[in-house]
Amino acid sequence: MDFNTQLHSKRTLVNNTLRRLLASHQIDSDLEESLRYTLEAPGKRVRAALVLWCCELIGAGTNHNAEIAAAAVEMVHTYSLVHDDLPAMDDDDFRRGLPTCHKAFDEATAILTGDALLTLAFEVLAEDIDEPIVAVKLITELARAAGAAGMIAGQMADLRAEKIANRKSKIENQLEYIHTNKTAKIFRCAAVMGAVCGGASDTQLSSLRKYGLKIGLGFQIADDILDVCASSEQLGKTAGKDARAAKCTYPAVLGIDKSKQLEKKLADEAIALLKPFGTEAEPLRQLARALLERTK
Ligand code: IPE
Ligand code: IPE
Ligand code: MG
Ligand code: MG
Ligand code: MG
Repeated sequence: MDFNTQLHSKRTLVNNTLRRLLASHQIDSDLEESLRYTLEAPGKRVRAALVLWCCELIGAGTNHNAEIAAAAVEMVHTYSLVHDDLPAMDDDDFRRGLPTCHKAFDEATAILTGDALLTLAFEVLAEDIDEPIVAVKLITELARAAGAAGMIAGQMADLRAEKIANRKSKIENQLEYIHTNKTAKIFRCAAVMGAVCGGASDTQLSSLRKYGLKIGLGFQIADDILDVCASSEQLGKTAGKDARAAKCTYPAVLGIDKSKQLEKKLADEAIALLKPFGTEAEPLRQLARALLERTK
């Protein structure tokens, strides 16, 4: 099966799991509509696919725990987008080719939809992972990646940097901090969660942890480049917003060429970390390359 077919089948699996998990929880009827709208919009599901591939690599196949973990990561990611798009943050009108949650519904509903997704992610991990020790490991990993020393720290710093846009040297120090925290740590977490579900050794975990962080940083650099180089139609979200909001991005600070070089270097380093896994790690190698070549 080629890489794109594999990614497509992972996406289908994740979408089915998300739908099943949503249907099996009691949800307020107004919130159910916004949750479904948000979660069923066509996201790329790359973090969830990363969970599944890392589990397959270690455990010779996907298992129930990895499917739940993949869905939980996607819920946290989707919540982060709903809140990221709010007027108080990036103030965006389109997401995944559709009006953002606060545009389709209202701001309060978008805040609550995000809150519900974040909470549901931890609920499904606590309820549905079939070994308590694995559940605790997954919950701890996800909480750390999404929390105040992870994604929230990155989002805080991202907004802070908008206000100091003219002080370039200060921003250069902040770049890696922002991108690592707001995006790369969730990728690292996805890789680790998959590896934990597959029963990885400490050595295997350590390699996949580093791999996840590198492709996650590369992913956010690619997102910054696409904001400059791609169209809104292509992206399903408004292009060119970062410069208008004076965001601290790699293209703004280093320029497009250097950003592309760095992206490539990160992918090469990520691929080098996969050496001990041999040919079985081919999907993860292709994923590292695909994140560079993506057009949306
Ligand atoms: C967008 O993530 C936010 C970033 C961290 C760059 P994705 O590009 O994965 O968004 P979806 O899930 O496919 O919509
Ligand atoms: C989003 O980064 C990061 C998180 C949601 C944690 P961006 O603000 O660059 O993502 P887009 O461009 O809106 O998708
Ligand atoms: Mg943002
Ligand atoms: Mg944004
Ligand atoms: Mg962006």
